[in-house]
Amino acid sequence: MPQHSMVKSYHRPTISYRPIQPSDLVVLEQLHSDLFPIRYESEFFHNVVNGRDIVSWGAVDSSRLGAQGDELIGFVTMKVVLAKDSEISDLLRCDSSTSDQTLAYILTLGVVESYRNLGIASGLIREVIKYASNIPTCRAVYLHVISYNASAIHLYKKMSFKCVRKLYGFYVINGQHYDAYLFVYYVNGGRSPCSPLELAMVLVTYLKSGYKTVAARLCRNDERKAWKWPKCKESRRLISQSQGKRNTTIDGDECQCV
Ligand SMILES: CC(C)(COP(=O)(O)OP(=O)(O)OC[C@H]1O[C@@H](n2cnc3c(N)ncnc32)[C@H](O)[C@@H]1OP(=O)(O)O)[C@@H](O)C(=O)NCCC(=O)NCCS
Repeated sequence: MPQHSMVKSYHRPTISYRPIQPSDLVVLEQLHSDLFPIRYESEFFHNVVNGRDIVSWGAVDSSRLGAQGDELIGFVTMKVVLAKDSEISDLLRCDSSTSDQTLAYILTLGVVESYRNLGIASGLIREVIKYASNIPTCRAVYLHVISYNASAIHLYKKMSFKCVRKLYGFYVINGQHYDAYLFVYYVNGGRSPCSPLELAMVLVTYLKSGYKTVAARLCRNDERKAWKWPKCKESRRLISQSQGKRNTTIDGDECQCV
C-alpha cells in the first residue's frame, strides 16, 4: 500500500508550501507520471527543480515522520510569458499587446490522491496568484484543462477563474483528440474594461435576462389563466433542465469570452 494512502484516517496533516528544489526531482517525476496521462520530458523536471524559467511550489505534510515530512504531496509549476505572444492577448486590457505586459501560465498542478479535497490545490493556486499579483507587469494567471477533468474545472471555477475559451482537439493523447478549456484569473487590473467582445457579451446577457423576465411574466400571467397552465409548466421544466446541466458541465453559456 502506498505510504500516502489512508492519510485522512491516521492524522490531520499540517500542510505548508515551499519552492520545489533539486532534491524533489525523483518524487516530482513520479507524481507527474502518476497523475497525468501525458509524459513530460526530463528536461522539464530539471528546469522545474532548478528554477530555470519555471517557478514552482510544492506542498508538504510536516506532520509526517522524518524525511517524509519534506516529501512533496502536491505541486504547481508555472512560467511567466509575454502577454503579446500569448493566446489570450485579445482578452486583456487594450494596451497589453503593445507593451511589456506579462502573464503567469500554470503548466502543471497536482495533489496526491489521499490528500485531495483538503484545499491543497487551492493553496497552491493562491501562491501563484500572490506571485503574479506582485509582478507589476503581470495581468493574469491562465491555464488549460482537459474538458473531462470535472474536479479541476470545479476547482478553477470555485477560485473565480473564468472559462474564456473552448479549444477543440487541443490535447492529443494516445492518438485521440480531446477538447480543452482555457481558464483565466485576472490580476493587477488585467481585465479589459472596454473590449468590443465584452460589450457584446454584456448585451447578450442583458437580452437573455430580458427574455427570461418576459418569459417569467408570461408564465405568471398563464398561472392566473387555468387553461394555459400546462404550457407554462412545460416551459418551466425546460428552464430547470438547462440550469441543472449548467451545474454539471460547462456549456456554451459559461464558456464565453469575458
Ligand atoms: C484537481 C486537483 C489538483 C484538486 O486538488 P485538491 O487538493 O483536491 O483541490 P482542493 O481540495 O483545493 O479543492 C477541490 C474541490 O474540488 C471538488 N471536487 C473534487 N472532486 C470533484 C469531482 N469529481 N467533481 C466535482 N468537484 C470535485 C471538491 O469538493 C473541492 O471543492 P469544494 O471545496 O467546493 O468542496 C486534484 O484532483 C488532482 O491532482 N487531480 C489530478 C491532476 C489534475 O487533474 N490536475 C489538474 C490539471 S489541469
